[in-house]
Amino acid sequence: MLKGKHIILGISGGIAAYKSVYLLRLLIKAGAEVQVIITPNGKEFITPVTLSSLSGKPVISEFFTANTGEWHSHVDLGLWADAMIIAPATASTIGKMVSGVADNMLITTYLSSKSKVFVAPAMDLDMWKHPSTQRNIETLKADGVSIIEPGAGELASHLVGKGRMEEPENIVKVLDDYFSQTEDLKGKKVLITAGPTYENIDPVRFIGNYSSGKMGFAIAEECANRGAEVTLVCGPVSIKTENPNINRVDVVSAKEMCNNCVNLFADTDIAILSAAVADYAPATCSESKIKREKTDSMTIELVKNPDIAATLGKMKSDSQMLVGFALETDNEKENAIRKINNKNLDWIVLNSLKDKEAGFQKDTNKITMLSRIGQEIPFDAKLKTEVAKDIIDTIIGK
Ligand code: C5P
Repeated sequence: MLKGKHIILGISGGIAAYKSVYLLRLLIKAGAEVQVIITPNGKEFITPVTLSSLSGKPVISEFFTANTGEWHSHVDLGLWADAMIIAPATASTIGKMVSGVADNMLITTYLSSKSKVFVAPAMDLDMWKHPSTQRNIETLKADGVSIIEPGAGELASHLVGKGRMEEPENIVKVLDDYFSQTEDLKGKKVLITAGPTYENIDPVRFIGNYSSGKMGFAIAEECANRGAEVTLVCGPVSIKTENPNINRVDVVSAKEMCNNCVNLFADTDIAILSAAVADYAPATCSESKIKREKTDSMTIELVKNPDIAATLGKMKSDSQMLVGFALETDNEKENAIRKINNKNLDWIVLNSLKDKEAGFQKDTNKITMLSRIGQEIPFDAKLKTEVAKDIIDTIIGK
């Protein structure tokens, strides 16, 4: 996918700059045209001669070429690029990107660039953990920059922790994935539910569950990356969305989640319901904190919550698609098929708690997809980000 693509490789001043030589080599081998822009400090770690020999283009570092007085147009460079990858990105370069301190060619080009920008940070573990760096990373994400997270291991300082620049092969894979992404959901409106619901007992207590929201958030990112207009209705979770095109609606209870979904559904092409919705809620919520009684037991009366999937299933038209999840412990397939029928779903994503890779809080999942018309498609255990791709590919028939 990288063949003929125009890539700007930005290199800033960190020891991981030595890995950028190999990254450049891999990009060239994959057929990309690469323009290297190196910061003045970057040149202390790696020589421009090595980089220009590999890229076949003069390396740009300064605003002007000293002997000819030629000015390098950061605007033209920014427009030329199909993608920009800054690897390694030091804490300083990241900070300058966040605040727009355009005192070198790399940052001026970043600010002029209309293309997708990827950043592969590399720094010592304490610099990476520092609240300032973490704040800056969050800001870059909110600006639409994709962060290729550093790995953990032994660092140049001989300390062990997170901060190693991602390996060049993996960075190339991220870029390759980006270019192979088709906008096959462009024009589609996707509604996704994620996370748990909390059903209040009194002002300080609730009935909830351990759902992290990771699966639903991965689906939301995948759909947005493929061009969909995404609304993510989520219960209380601690994770954030990355793609700025996801419209996130935070709710607490099942009733609130249901009301939002019902209001949104008429204008939805595909609804994917991954939330772990509480089946019951306390019949009443006490306005003040319930005091401990002298008796050894107490009873809370519970009433059934609305079944969001079944409610939307009743509203569904032929042009809409409804996808549910089933987390089962036994009679998995029979239960899942029953849910397809009871809730009028088109697909159900079945995961079994018997699989160690599946379940709440995990980064992986192992699914089987079952359809209304009897298809049964099992998948290997994968990262939830990969599972999200499988789910979308399957429901759109890819
Ligand atoms: O019946 P069960 O809870 O196993 O069904 C799971 C599927 O139904 C999931 O897609 C879940 O998000 C959805 N669901 C719902 N509203 C409920 C309960 C489940 O939308 N009250």
